[in-house]
Amino acid sequence: MQNTRNVTDSVIWVGANDRRIGLFENLFPVEKGVSYNSYVILDEKTAVMDTADAAVTLQFLDNVRGALGGRELDYIVVNHMEPDHCANIEMLMRLYPGAKVVGNAKTFQFIRQFYEMDLEGRTVEVKEGDVLDLGYHKLQFVFAPMVHWPEVMMAYDQTEKLLFSADAFGSFGALDVLFNDEQDCPFADLAEMRRYFSNIVGKYGPQVQAVLKKAAGLEISAICPLHGQIWRTDIAEVLKKHDQWSRYEAEEKAVAIFYASMYGNTAEAAETLAAMLAEAGVKNTVVYDVSRTHVSYLISEIFRCSNIVLAAPTYNNGLYPTMLNLLEDMKALNLQNRTVSIIENGSWAPQSGKIMREMVSSLKGMNVSEKTVTIKSSVKEEQRQALKELCTEICASLEA
Ligand SMILES: Cc1cc2nc3c(=O)[nH]c(=O)nc-3n(C[C@H](O)[C@H](O)[C@H](O)COP(=O)(O)O)c2cc1C
Ligand SMILES: [Fe+2]
Ligand SMILES: [Fe+2]
Repeated sequence: MQNTRNVTDSVIWVGANDRRIGLFENLFPVEKGVSYNSYVILDEKTAVMDTADAAVTLQFLDNVRGALGGRELDYIVVNHMEPDHCANIEMLMRLYPGAKVVGNAKTFQFIRQFYEMDLEGRTVEVKEGDVLDLGYHKLQFVFAPMVHWPEVMMAYDQTEKLLFSADAFGSFGALDVLFNDEQDCPFADLAEMRRYFSNIVGKYGPQVQAVLKKAAGLEISAICPLHGQIWRTDIAEVLKKHDQWSRYEAEEKAVAIFYASMYGNTAEAAETLAAMLAEAGVKNTVVYDVSRTHVSYLISEIFRCSNIVLAAPTYNNGLYPTMLNLLEDMKALNLQNRTVSIIENGSWAPQSGKIMREMVSSLKGMNVSEKTVTIKSSVKEEQRQALKELCTEICASLEA
């Protein structure tokens, strides 16, 4: 049982897909599963770049053995100490007694916290800019602190210009094809890449910006992340997307309407506004019921769209729980720079508008419409008028 692919003549993908996983990090729905990528480098010295999740141990170990073709393993390079990548370090150390673990000071601290393995005489500690010489391949370490853990580093192969980028530039989704250019549209899976970035790394925009500055000085022939496809074309576009996302800049002038609703009245307002926008010529508006779509997809859409509309009922003098959850997640992920409109509903003392306004206004760079559309139970002519005005305001902001 062995399934490997060559990235170059001497670099071999030894990762595996997990299509059975339901929730990544026990939190994010992954309908198409996830891939755990790892790479073997065959040179005067041999190396494996990170390991893989415990769910795919057998496949991973077979792949490593096959890729090594009977050779010993000299180095286990640990770019990221999260268990979805480091679960098999100890196994490799047992199977390959000559192998040394390459990491930085924080890597080794985390190894000791997670595991009780004997590292005596088996560590190589590297610092920013150090080079691990494998012979032909020379791995330069580029530290990427807090993208999205403190110990994260990338390894840049100076010879073949490969960037082993750890979790950065990764994506949800098991791999149908390993290389992005093995499908007609190289960005076919952009939505899942965006959802991965926005939810996993989104909070760390400034740290991603710091890494992008370092990457700008490197000539890159392929990006080899720990999840998702290997990018060997369209690299500038991949970097550009991550630059936009990490600056919290919208990708598109577009409207995303998020509503919560129990009896359907707030929903009706949201659908009415969507129809008005379409009739006014606005293209590609999307509408989500926040109780029906996992918050990770909603966050991803906010990273994409310039304008968002939040519509929710009042609930026990507070905000309807699933909308509260979305707003708390937006805050946790440091979302910024969007134009926001608010629709509230309440039968006796509407409060949801005030709460949404306060929560959104506490985020950086949010341009919140001054008018709240207030519904008192159901949409009447007065609210239709207010929605029309809101539509006009949104259209003006899209044209600005
Ligand atoms: C458990 C519960 C708590 C509510 N709490 C409030 C409240 O504190 N203040 C208020 O004005 N309306 C409250 N409402 C009423 C709803 O906000 C109101 O009926 C609204 O029109 C529902 O909108 P929908 O048709 O989109 O579900 C509550 C409703 C429920 C079921
Ligand atoms: Fe990670
Ligand atoms: Fe990961």
